[in-house]
Amino acid sequence: MTVCPGPEVTIQADGGQLDQLLINLVRNAVDAAFDGDGGVEVGWAARNGRLEVWVRDGGPGFADTDNLFVPFFTTKPNGSGIGLVLSRQIAEAHGGTLMLANRSDRRGCEARLSLPILAT
Ligand SMILES: Nc1ncnc2c1ncn2[C@@H]1O[C@H](COP(=O)(O)OP(=O)(O)OP(=O)(O)O)[C@@H](O)[C@H]1O
Ligand SMILES: [Mg+2]
Repeated sequence: MTVCPGPEVTIQADGGQLDQLLINLVRNAVDAAFDGDGGVEVGWAARNGRLEVWVRDGGPGFADTDNLFVPFFTTKPNGSGIGLVLSRQIAEAHGGTLMLANRSDRRGCEARLSLPILAT
């Protein structure tokens, strides 16, 4: 996994919940990359008062993004299908958003988390 670090920023958040969110995204990326070239990249940037975090993989991407956030939707033999639903709930509870899309530059998926940066 490659990490592309951005600037140091301060956010107000439940650390345990954010950990869970990021673990969900990275685990999905690793699962997907297993079917592809294995590459996973995580990075962040600060833009317009928001922290933007992305998790990219080199997996197959998805044919259909409609079901991704539907509770219990899973394509994995041992998946529970709640990872993304829960992750989006955590993002929104922190005034943020979570989106997933196929990558435009190559095969694979990109998850994008946006959170407000604490005003100082
Ligand atoms: N990076 C990704 N690339 C391709 N498909 C993905 C990716 N992330 C999620 N998906 C698809 O979305 C489905 C739902 O993801 P979600 O994380 O909610 O559940 P899950 O990974 O199947 O199970 P769990 O609840 O254990 O996380 C996955 O089963 C998979 O089909
Ligand atoms: Mg998952």
